[in-house]
Amino acid sequence: MAEQSNPISLPNLKRVRTRHFQSAKEQGIKITGLTSYDMLSAQIFDTAGIDFLLVGDSAGNNVLGYDTTLPVTVDDLIPLTRAVAGAVTRAFVVADMPFGSYEAGQLEALHTAVRFMKETGAHAVKLEGGVRSAKQIRRIVDAGIPVMAHIGFTPQSEHGLGGHLIQGRGEGMEQLLADAHAVEDAGAFAVVLEMVPATSAAVVTKELRIPTIGVGAGPDVDGQLLVWTDWAGFSTGRIPKFVRQYADLKAILGDAAARYKADVEGGQYPSAEHNYE
Ligand code: KIV
Repeated sequence: MAEQSNPISLPNLKRVRTRHFQSAKEQGIKITGLTSYDMLSAQIFDTAGIDFLLVGDSAGNNVLGYDTTLPVTVDDLIPLTRAVAGAVTRAFVVADMPFGSYEAGQLEALHTAVRFMKETGAHAVKLEGGVRSAKQIRRIVDAGIPVMAHIGFTPQSEHGLGGHLIQGRGEGMEQLLADAHAVEDAGAFAVVLEMVPATSAAVVTKELRIPTIGVGAGPDVDGQLLVWTDWAGFSTGRIPKFVRQYADLKAILGDAAARYKADVEGGQYPSAEHNYE
């Protein structure tokens, strides 16, 4: 009899839900995520079977023209999240809670999470911080809203952390583990590990019951997430070492723009087939 091989991707689901994140971890199926900030990219990624889309506050660097994520507001992210959530049929959509929208306490965090759920159609929220954000996570989860946690390098605390520095290395491992357990105990359904050594991420992944999603955390995690504009070669800024570029959109669009300009200037565009009778 032919041996039954383990599935390598989530089955043909109508919609990815939190329970599928958990069953993926239990069955050793890797979860795949990308950021998205607009309807068109969301439709493409959803059709390709990407399991979850994060409407990240990385929109600050990739859409809104900021140097960091710090200036991004809830009002900035609400329309982007609505566009993404409205475009997908299968993918699980996570709304990122920006800096200044949850740190003041549990009620502020709950109000922000409720706004995202009511006004965008997202399926969950994400917020940064381990031990320091555990109370906020618990309050949001108690209201019936799924929370994806985010530990390791947390871009909203870039200045507090002293720059874009790898976390969870050496003595930092103790803090990483404490953060990981704190968010699991607070009820998060998954946790993003950003910029941590692969060996540290592997230990956290083994210790936790909930799935870990790596962003620069090596292969021994339960899923991977990348910022789509880095992944597709669309970004103009610094690309982190952990990114594999799957397309070169910057070159494709640059070339298209140059050919369009040449056609307009040379009178080759528009031509007969583009004209109304
Ligand atoms: O905003 C974002 O894109 C993120 C990921 C990099 C984890 O928070």
